[in-house]
This record gives sequence, structure tokens and C-alpha cells, in this order.
Amino acid sequence: MAMKSLCFVLLSVLVAYYVYKPLPDNMEEKWKIMLIDATFRSLGHLGNLAEMFGVKHYMDVMMLLTYAEHTEPTSDDHVTVTDTLFSDVPVRLYIPKGKSNALKRAIIYIHGGGWCVGSAAMKPYDHLSKQSAHTLNAVIVSINYRLAPKYHFPNQFDDVYNAAKFFLQEKVLEKYSVDPNRIAASGDSAGGNLAAALAQMLLHDPEVKVKLKIQVLVYPVLQGLDLNTPSYKENAYMPLLSRTLMVRFWSEYYTTDRSLFEAMMSNTHISSQDAHLYKYVNWSTLLPGDLKKNHVYKIPDNQNTAFVKKYPGLLDVRASPLLAEDEKLAGLPLAYVITCMYDVLRDDGFMYVSRLRKAGVHVVHEHYDNTFHGVLLMNSGPFPLSLADRMVDKYLNWLDTNL
Ligand SMILES: *[C@@H]1O[C@H](CO)[C@@H](O)[C@H](O)[C@H]1NC(C)=O
Repeated sequence: MAMKSLCFVLLSVLVAYYVYKPLPDNMEEKWKIMLIDATFRSLGHLGNLAEMFGVKHYMDVMMLLTYAEHTEPTSDDHVTVTDTLFSDVPVRLYIPKGKSNALKRAIIYIHGGGWCVGSAAMKPYDHLSKQSAHTLNAVIVSINYRLAPKYHFPNQFDDVYNAAKFFLQEKVLEKYSVDPNRIAASGDSAGGNLAAALAQMLLHDPEVKVKLKIQVLVYPVLQGLDLNTPSYKENAYMPLLSRTLMVRFWSEYYTTDRSLFEAMMSNTHISSQDAHLYKYVNWSTLLPGDLKKNHVYKIPDNQNTAFVKKYPGLLDVRASPLLAEDEKLAGLPLAYVITCMYDVLRDDGFMYVSRLRKAGVHVVHEHYDNTFHGVLLMNSGPFPLSLADRMVDKYLNWLDTNL
């Protein structure tokens, strides 16, 4: 009996030790966040083990969460949900059931997951899309683009682009009773990256007559040149998206070859030959003073040009929308950008906001100073966060007013 109690105490201590993580003072609902993070971290550890023993690729294990949260397309009283193909790209379509003949608004939604995991059919995404369709009486097109490690850049972008371009045809919009002047692209994390790139490419595509009215970028990834910005350094071990995981996502976007991952971890994947591009991602000029703190700006001093030669996508604006010249940014649609303080990607968002504003683009920047990456989707599941509800409400309110 004493032995059993001792084991129980020891086990509890171990679990508490594993789950406990010191978090910033101003984060709300810390224990829930720790439990969410511990669950996610365990999956990561399992992925590392599986990879170490050569059983599975790390991302195949991370993908288990996507499968676990898979939902079939399910219509309800307000919204009809179907899976279909737009230009051979799978999309999940949400059509509000309202009787009115008036034209509807539309959102092209692009899910996150580091270009490697996630799906429009995942419970939190499916829920957000249904809620958006119902609340805004809008058609939602949620794109299931192909994922790494099986497919690499630019397949993910191409799928998003092709599906969006198909939808933006006048005859297709007519079929779904969509107002061509009231269409947004929206995405979170890697989806925000694809949404930003989509908005840039659509703007300059002469074949596309219908243009976006709005781009929504929720804690987006916007550049892969400098993986040592102050936010990468300060938030390297914050919940959900560690620096290591983000770098892993970046490298998998291009290749499964681990040498790129190692180079990106040490921020030596770009050579000084391409140093001229750093002005587009110079956090020393693009970040507000209170985020720069006492970090010292320096561009990598590195002579190895091999990676850029092998993976030219590293310098491609469709992967790093921050690399666009000012003239290419001018004329982009109204942007709603969400950033979170304790997120490695915080500075990507801040830098894009600065650059868009300098180019004359209207930006509404919603910065949450008390939370971490991924929080928008935490309003369901076993540990729902109240901040997630508030963020979604604000997001939908803003779209309702502006779209
Ligand atoms: C970055 O900005 C700083 C000024 O804040 C400047 O001294 C430096 O030359 C810039 N570097 C690049 C690569 O643009």
C-alpha cells in the first residue's frame, strides 16, 4: 500500500514537472495553456523518437493531431457544408442558407500548420469557417492545399493560388451569389503567409479581374531570411510554436534534407552575397523601439551560397512576402494584422505592418500583448481559452464592419 502511494506521489510529481512551465505574468488561464502545451510537446517528443528510430518522419507524427480532429463536412440549420474541387484543388465550401437573393460576401480561408500539417477539416478550422459563414452571411472557401514533407514550395502556394483564381472568376462568383467587390483572403500562421503572398500575386496578375477587398493576416509567417529577430530570440521556448519547430517548418517547406534545417537554426542559410535583401527585413528600422529593447542588429556574415543555389525558393517573395519591393506593396488591399507578444513570429507581423503603411496601404493592427501563437483556434477542445473567444469575436466584428 505504502509502495502504491509512493508511486502515485512520484508519478504526480513527474507529471507536474513535465506540464509546469513558467509563463509570463500577464498570460491568462496559465494552467490551461500549460496543459495544451504539454499535450502538443508530447506529440513533438513522440515525433522525435519515431524519427530517431527511423519509423516515421517527424511531420507524419505531428499530422496525427490533424487526423484526430478531422470532421466530415456537416451542414446545419444555417450553413451548407460540402467538399469539392476548385481547379483540381480540394476546398471545403460553406454556404449560408439565408433566403435573401442579395449578393453575399466571401472569405477565402487558408489554414495554418507550418505548410506541413493542418486541414480545413480540422475541428477548430471547420468551426471557425462555419461560424464565419453564419455570422457574416458569407461564403467561405477553405483551401486544402498540399503539404510538406511530401510536397514542397511552391506547391502549397500554387494550390492556394489556383483555387483562389478559380473562385474569383465572374461566372463562379455568380454561381455562388457572391459580390465581386466584397471578397477577403484570410489565414493564420503559415496560412497568413499564403494569404499575404496570394494578395500580392493577385494584385499584379492581369488575368484576374476581380480583386480582393481585404487581407486578414493572423500571426502570419512573413520572412525566412532572418530567424534571429528579437521575437525569435525572446520567444524561442514559448507555448505551441518553439523556434526549433518554426525553423523545422521553414526547412521542410523547401526540403527534407536536414542540412538546411541545421543552417537555418544557426541563421546561416543566406550568404552575404544576398545581403542587399536584408533591408526588407531590417528589424532595426522596422520595429517599434519597445520591441527592439537592447537587441543588437547584425546581418549574418556568411559566405556559403550553396543553399540559395539549391533552394532558390529561400529568396522567393511567394515564400517571404516581406521581400516585396515597396512598389509591389502599394495598392494592396486593406489589411487586418493580428500579432501576439509571446510568439516567434511577432516581429514578422510588425515589420510587415511598417512596410505596408510606408507603401500607403491601410492597415489595422491588432496586437495582443498577453498571449502566444495559435490562440485563435483555442476556443474549443478540452481546455478552451476565453481569450480565443474574444479574439474570434473581434475578428468577426471587424470583418462584418469592413468587408
Ligand atoms: C539596418 O538598419 C540600421 C539602422 O537602424 C542600419 O544601420 C543598417 O545598415 C541596416 N542594415 C541593412 C542591411 O539594411
